[in-house]
Amino acid sequence: MLQIFPDTSTIAEHVSATLVAKIQSKPDAVLGLATGGTMEPIYAQFVAHAHRVNLDVSRLTSFNLDEYIGLSPDHPKSYSAYMREHLFSHLGFDTSRLHLPDGMTQDLEAHCKAYAAHIQAFGGVDLQLLGVGGNGHIGFNEPGTPFDCPCHVVELAEQTRIDNSRFFAEGLMVPRSAITMGMAEIMQAREIVLVATGEAKAQIMAEWYQQDVTERIPFTALKRHPRARIILDEAAASLL
Ligand code: GLP
Repeated sequence: MLQIFPDTSTIAEHVSATLVAKIQSKPDAVLGLATGGTMEPIYAQFVAHAHRVNLDVSRLTSFNLDEYIGLSPDHPKSYSAYMREHLFSHLGFDTSRLHLPDGMTQDLEAHCKAYAAHIQAFGGVDLQLLGVGGNGHIGFNEPGTPFDCPCHVVELAEQTRIDNSRFFAEGLMVPRSAITMGMAEIMQAREIVLVATGEAKAQIMAEWYQQDVTERIPFTALKRHPRARIILDEAAASLL
């Protein structure tokens, strides 16, 4: 289902309300969390909303989509640091329940298997938040990733590294590879909310709209998901 909202603040309110309602109805829910600029206003709104209603988040479990290889959780550009800055440090989470792939792991293959197994051990994700890359990637599942691919190591597409270089100060290289939850774990989530905002997403949204399901555009997989919502602002919807 496609929903178009006027702007990012309306989207942030709507997604935040969805999260709050989910957590109120299932306080021990398993959330799949995303990073990126799109999520920043959403997490800010959710934090404010959670404080307002005194939301108990202590029983939640979360699994983040991805992490750069070679960045430790303390590195300011790691997704671990992002999550602390925008969400985890603001509410009373039980930090032992908050999971991200470990970008410093010595055994990448074993770590990917363990991360996927950990998600399964919790019965999968109840509500998965997603942004989308300019090339249609979700998490870091780049174009061409098989839809049944589990958590894996990925060499980032050049376009992805260029897009994400805005988050890295001059002189700091965007890592070349990452660990990402696979299309398999994402598609197993019981509910998915993908958000795309701004003109930079208009072209890929138009492709999503026009194309059938294709591994060339990873997030077209969501067309087959029974409870996936694609939420756009007017700028991202401008070429539909
Ligand atoms: C990054 C992340 C994705 C994110 C996407 C969009 O590469 N791995 O999970 O959804 O790119 O990011 P942004 O919201 O900054 O446009």
